[in-house]
Amino acid sequence: MPGPGMELIGEEEKLAVLEVLDAGYLFRYGSPDDPAFKAKVYQLEQEVAALMGVHYAVAVNSGTTALLVALGGLGIGPGDEVIVPGYTFIASMSSIIYARAIPILAEVDTTLNLDPADVRTRITPRTKAIMAVHMLGNPARLDELKAIADAHGLLLVEDCAQAFGASYKGRPVGSIGHAGTYSFNIFKTITAGDGGMVVTDEEPAYRRFFGFHDQGHSPLRTGVEVGRRPFVGLDFRMTELTAAVLLAQLHKLDTIVSHLRANKRRFKAAIAGLPGLEFREITDPDGECATLLTVFLPTAQIARQIANELHTRVVADSGWHVYSNMEQLLEKRTLTPEGCPFTCPHYEGGEISYSRGMLPQTDDLLARAINISIGVSDPGLGSAFGVRMQDGPDEVDARAEEFIAVASKYLS
Ligand SMILES: Cc1ncc(COP(=O)(O)O)c(C=O)c1O
Repeated sequence: MPGPGMELIGEEEKLAVLEVLDAGYLFRYGSPDDPAFKAKVYQLEQEVAALMGVHYAVAVNSGTTALLVALGGLGIGPGDEVIVPGYTFIASMSSIIYARAIPILAEVDTTLNLDPADVRTRITPRTKAIMAVHMLGNPARLDELKAIADAHGLLLVEDCAQAFGASYKGRPVGSIGHAGTYSFNIFKTITAGDGGMVVTDEEPAYRRFFGFHDQGHSPLRTGVEVGRRPFVGLDFRMTELTAAVLLAQLHKLDTIVSHLRANKRRFKAAIAGLPGLEFREITDPDGECATLLTVFLPTAQIARQIANELHTRVVADSGWHVYSNMEQLLEKRTLTPEGCPFTCPHYEGGEISYSRGMLPQTDDLLARAINISIGVSDPGLGSAFGVRMQDGPDEVDARAEEFIAVASKYLS
């Protein structure tokens, strides 16, 4: 089972989908007077906005389009640079590229999220935004990143794809930056197979997000449109079926997160005594999703040996989420041959190059890191070893003992 929400797909999701199918109306817009129109997408937007403590949410069809809507909607475009961590999913970078801006890669620190000290060194006159990605369910150092953004007049975009349900110092992730985005793909806290959401507290941004996601229309397509659409948009709309599943999943969020936190606490306590073993730094232990437990070993070699014996991989080798494994980015393989945005005449930063080894601190940390699943088994994250969402204390203890038996051969 890939993610925690997926394990809990059951009667509630089935009933919600059947309600929509029985009524026979699948489109997100409809008349309030039509009994067939269940307004599931609208309800989901309202519930997510309330959960995040913001005024506005726009449902979209993926976490990737949520990012694109956020970036474009905030006015990020040709000539702009966006600082993004080298440890994230390619969507963080591809959304910047399709917004026609330039991703500037930065180091992660022991949180495995953006290193604020490194971010400072990457700021140029062209920097428009910082994209804080909350990797593996754990919030980035938002206080520091927000202070940097504010001091330099930059936008802060939170990519919360992997952290739906997490909070930072009492505030839900996604509500602290100018925009926050979520993904509901199969590996995420809650899922409908695919889906996404973008949230903001600012009305002008909401109007632009809404227009971008639906052909330039005003929110909910209200009012007379012809002659008044502010820009050309696209179609990233969510269907009623997806929203029906997500509403059922959303109502399980508290159960999911509290179960994951209990399992993670137990696993962590069981392996904590191993000599030389360190844990990933968690910025807010009360606020993390607890989907994964990441450990650092003293050397890359020891980490690799332990990972091999556990039939998993160190994070550096895990695949999709490490910049050095993103050949399409490293080689700037754009969809069309002229190479835009890297060759865009609006961009005044000269030649951009990405290469393996360009983020030595990130490389060192990821080579020594192993992701243990607490509820997410994702080959792209290298979390093949661990427990599943629904496992209880016995399975946690058994897996922790297995980890200790292997790791203690290499640690002293
Ligand atoms: C950090 C991060 N950002 C963005 C995305 C994109 O989400 P989606 O797969 O829904 O497009 C993902 C998905 O895995 C992700 O992990």
